[in-house]
Formats: sequence, structure tokens, C-alpha cells
Amino acid sequence: MDHFLYKNGALHAEDISLTEIAAAIKTPFYVYSAATLTRHYQLFTEALSPLPHMVCFAIKSLSNVAVLKLLGDLGAGMDVVSGGEYRRARAAGIPGERIVFSGVGKKRDEMRLALTGGIRQFNVESEPELRALSEVASSLDLTAPITIRVNPDVDAKTHTKIATGKSENKFGIPITRAREVYAEAARLPSIEIIGIDVHIGSQLTELTPFEQAYLKIADLTHQLRADGHKIRRLDLGGGLGIPYSRSSKAPPLPVDYGALIKRIVGNLGCEIQIEPGRLISGNAGLLVASVIYIKKGEGRNFLILDAAMNDLIRPSMYDAHHDIVPVIEPTSNFKATVYDVVGPICETGDTFANGRPLAPLTEGDLVAFRSTGAYGAVMASEYNTRPLVPEVLVKKDHFAVIRQRPTFDEILNRDTIPPWL
Ligand code: LLP
Repeated sequence: MDHFLYKNGALHAEDISLTEIAAAIKTPFYVYSAATLTRHYQLFTEALSPLPHMVCFAIKSLSNVAVLKLLGDLGAGMDVVSGGEYRRARAAGIPGERIVFSGVGKKRDEMRLALTGGIRQFNVESEPELRALSEVASSLDLTAPITIRVNPDVDAKTHTKIATGKSENKFGIPITRAREVYAEAARLPSIEIIGIDVHIGSQLTELTPFEQAYLKIADLTHQLRADGHKIRRLDLGGGLGIPYSRSSKAPPLPVDYGALIKRIVGNLGCEIQIEPGRLISGNAGLLVASVIYIKKGEGRNFLILDAAMNDLIRPSMYDAHHDIVPVIEPTSNFKATVYDVVGPICETGDTFANGRPLAPLTEGDLVAFRSTGAYGAVMASEYNTRPLVPEVLVKKDHFAVIRQRPTFDEILNRDTIPPWL
């Protein structure tokens, strides 16, 4: 469920018409709904209650500090994967004890930043990383709370570029070697083991892979406890998928996912932690663009928009589908026109959709890409020197630009011509 509905003939974000925002800041822009973000976060907390738990929002999916503050004020923790994301979480007022540091290549300065600034846990992904963390923590006279991310060798049945739980993926420590790595962790100075971490992939549309992975985690919990380790927290990762199209089969709901977690690991006496990104942010955001031209090709119509692959890369990168809807509500009996929806960038990959039936559009019309709150703005770039796409947050009848579009002066001033040139 989201809060992007047609009212009085125009698509709204909550109580604000997208035409009003477009008039104020020009297209393209991302717009997020505070009510949808809130609702999606609450679905997870409700699904895990009454187990002791923390929902740590995966910042990588949508990292604007205003959004982090909104979720943080609801009690959310944050899952970060870089020193930059750690800084964002802190800038949003999230205390260190609610920040989890994931990622396969943490650097020593990032470890130092998190250790000195405060951290809930590091999800350690390799033995060299474990040793580096022990050294850094020792040098600061601090203790690093850790889980070890295990790779359960489970097929997440998702796009290969976002599956992470098979043994051929770079993530985590093979579950078969987990006991020896935990033994090493227990011997190392300045390391405190607090639990186990697993994350098998993103946009999972079935529960079975989660079940297979969590059964292995439950077994491992027993084994590690028998080895003498204190396992008091299980971080079960993120990855629950969202519906990207109104016509496709809906993925399982957070409540079903929560029931699965309770059934498999609910009786282990552990605090449960999860790291969802997409399910909280994905359907809480739209990318709004304008039609620049409609070009007649050989047997096809190209709908040329002012948004491009640099603003939303998912279609070119993962062949991802995003519903595209007109901002002005079409009449109920409209006759669809079939378009190839493209951006202005100089490569054929800059295509959002081929052969997409849409309500007839004309130059200057606004369209919205649905389900772009996650992995939309965060993956945007300035390719073709197109200014980084701005972001807007709506709450009821308020809206605010939460990231400005940079000016061309700002963009050009980042380049410097050396004096010797
Ligand atoms: N935890 C870890 C360790 C992760 O690597 C990820 C996502 C998450 C949590 C959050 O997963 P989510 O709940 O959002 O599925 N750019 C791709 C998605 C990459 C996901 C990477 N890791 C896309 O646009 O589909």
C-alpha cells in the first residue's frame, strides 16, 4: 500500500499534487511519502512483536538524511555499509547503539570512525577483516561488538546481480567454516561476539530461501553455544521483495515473513534484528519526469523523457520493470498508445521500457515511475553532466525539497584545472 493516488484528476503524494511540486522545482525529481515510509517500517515492527527486535533500515536503498531522521524518530536502527552512510545516520541523529556496520570491505578508517562514534555491531565478513578490526579496536582501547556474516549457500531465487547467499558470491564466511572463525574471534583481543548475521539477497519473492537459510542459522546457534559462545542476537538481513507491477503476483507480506522468523528462530532466546531496505522505501517513492518529445520511429513511438538512466539506472542495469503512469489521470476508457520510453542520454541502454502501452501523452506532460523509492536516487549519477536529481519529501499537505538539484556552477567548480596545465 502507498499514498500515491489520483485525486481531483491528478496524481498526488499524500495531499500534494505532483503538478504543484513539478511547477515549483521542475522535473525530474524523486518524491517520497512520509506516511508510506512510516507504515512500511511499522509493518516490520508489528510482524516481529512481541519478540525483542530491532528493524535496521538498509540506508543503501534510500539514504537522504531527512528520510533517516523520519525513520529514526520512529525508533528504527540503521544498517550502513560505508563510512559515508555511517555519517549520514549520525547526521540524522541516530545514536551509535542503533547503527549496524555491514559490508564486505570495511577499511580501517571506517572501523575507527564507527568505534569512536559508537556502534551496535560490526557484521564481519572475513577473517582478515576480523583481525583488522581487532587491531583497530585494541589501538583505541575499545571493544568491537561483532557478529559474523555466514554464507549459508542458499539460492535466493532472485536476479543474479543481487543474490548474495550462494557459495560463489563474495559475501560472508562459508557456513561450513563458521565454527573455526568464531573460535578465532573468541581468541582475538578487543572483540566481543554477540551473534550471527546472514543476508541472502534482495527482492526475494518467496519465503522458502529465507526458511532454508534461517534453519541453518538456528542449527549454527546451537553449535556455537555448545562451543561456548554467547549468541544473543541474530541479524537475519534484509531482502523481502516488493510488488513492482500491479499485475504481477505479490511477494509475501512482512507479517508472513515475521511468522516464519518466529517459527524458526523465535524460541532461541535471541534478540532478532533485520535489515530491510526496499520494502520500506521502494513503494514510498516516485520519480517524476516530463515528456520532452514524442518521436515517430519505424513502426514505433519513442516517448523521450527528461529523466534518464543516470537518474534511475534499474531498468538498464537489471532489466527492471517500473510501472509508468501519467500524472494527469487518464479517462477510464482511454485507448492506449504503445511507446518505447527513453531518456536523452547518448546510449541505447538509456531505455526505461520497450513497447509499453500508456495513456496517450503529449509534449510537456508529466509521468511518474512507481516503486522507485529504493535504489533510485541513491544510484543516480551525473553522467552526461546532468545535475544529480533532487529529492522531495511529502507529509500530508507539506512538502520540502530534501536534496536540492545542484547548479551548474557547483558541478563545474568541483573540477579543477591544475596550474601547470
Ligand atoms: N543488508 C545487506 C547486507 C544488504 O547487502 C542489503 C542489500 C540489504 C540489507 C537490504 O536489502 P533489501 O531489503 O533492500 O532487499 N541495487 C539493487 C539492490 C541491491 C541490494 C544490495 N544489498 C536493486 O536496485 O535492485
